[in-house]
Amino acid sequence: MGKKAQFGSKIGLVAATVGSAVGLGNVWRFPAEAQANGGAAFLVVYIACVFLLGVPVMVSEFALGRAGRSDAVGAFKNLGASKPWWGVGALAVCASYMILCFYMVVAGWTIEYLWASLTRALYDIDTSASMESSFAGKMQDMIGGSYRPLVATYITILINICVLAVGVQKGIERLSNILMPVLFLVLLVMCGVSMSLDKAAEGLAYFLNPDFSKITPSVVLNALGQAFFSLSLGMGILITYSSYFPNSTKLTKTAVTVSLLDLLVAMMMGIIIFPAITSFGLQDANLEGTTLVFVTLPEVFNMMPWTRLWSTLFFLLLTVAAITSTISIAEVTVAFVSDRFRTSRIKACLITLMPLFVFSTVCSLSLGVWSGFRIADMNIFNLLDTVATNIILPVVSIGVCVYLGWVAPKNILQDEISNYGKAGRHPGYLIRIIIRYIAPALISLVLISYFLNV
Ligand code: PFF
Repeated sequence: MGKKAQFGSKIGLVAATVGSAVGLGNVWRFPAEAQANGGAAFLVVYIACVFLLGVPVMVSEFALGRAGRSDAVGAFKNLGASKPWWGVGALAVCASYMILCFYMVVAGWTIEYLWASLTRALYDIDTSASMESSFAGKMQDMIGGSYRPLVATYITILINICVLAVGVQKGIERLSNILMPVLFLVLLVMCGVSMSLDKAAEGLAYFLNPDFSKITPSVVLNALGQAFFSLSLGMGILITYSSYFPNSTKLTKTAVTVSLLDLLVAMMMGIIIFPAITSFGLQDANLEGTTLVFVTLPEVFNMMPWTRLWSTLFFLLLTVAAITSTISIAEVTVAFVSDRFRTSRIKACLITLMPLFVFSTVCSLSLGVWSGFRIADMNIFNLLDTVATNIILPVVSIGVCVYLGWVAPKNILQDEISNYGKAGRHPGYLIRIIIRYIAPALISLVLISYFLNV
């Protein structure tokens, strides 16, 4: 096997990590959740979760990956961890693969919508029915159909194979260096357009109107879950990516930069969505998840001049966010296969991604023709999402914190945060306290509250 791969530049490694963090969580989970749970009040709680807990846990994953210099399992093993501990890495690999099975399908939908916007087929609607029911019908075809979503999913898998097979620097880093500026540029243009609409101020007030009475303990735990999902924590992604960080990378600074940019994108999405829907009187429509993105926003675009342009730009944004996230999730298993079984990268890519043609097909069809097949009252798609993100993600995060905070030699975290004594002043002491006590306690509460609610 050759030398361990590395990112070639600081910008490249930040772009790749931001590419992983910025995904559908920022677009269809954050804005609606913030608006429904107290607007600016929720934002304060969310920002606290990101910086007081998300950043320290991110630094821990970075420290583990860079010190272990291997995949999510190998990093633990290289640090001398015994069995239950490298099992945490194995759980992360399993969870990321489970997520990959359905995230590929969702990324496929974004490609379908991008294509339908470009060709204007999306706006070819039955004018006798209401706009909402027309777009809902289209969504049913695009998401629940048995042929189109599959083709789009397969295209996503092929893009992943092409990028990942080329390698870390020439594949992941180069793609992120191109796509992240595109993403920010499109975001800026769309924010400008949305803010120039008639009722922009009203929309912003609707998004951010602070209501502290809505902040209950369960909203705080929700915000914490959303922060971890959005920052790609607890999936082995950051352990894997940081194994490609050079020794000179400042881990705390990188974690703060990535978290700030992820937050910025989530906020900009809110700034795009709420002025637009308020200006067109759609604030009472369903603003959750797929309906927001695939029904309500197309209604908005349809009422705007230059429908095709804005719709294409928006779905381009969504596709970029989704594809760069799928690549980071897939890299966890690609690195695992190539490091553990000492195979070439190309073989590891094929071993990881070829079975997804079958698994993603099952996930996609479980929303359409196979929707009758349910386990614990969930279709396969929702089951994978629930088990991976609600259960395994917090378990892995707790495992990483407890291992680095209590079990691993103390100098590992210290050395990595201080860049082997060269970083000058650093918040190592504070991070250690958070990952030893506060993070495991609060993440356990998220897990317990999930089980109590079920
Ligand atoms: N952070 C990305 C998002 O918010 O969509 C991608 C992602 C990573 C999703 C890890 C889910 C996950 F568990």
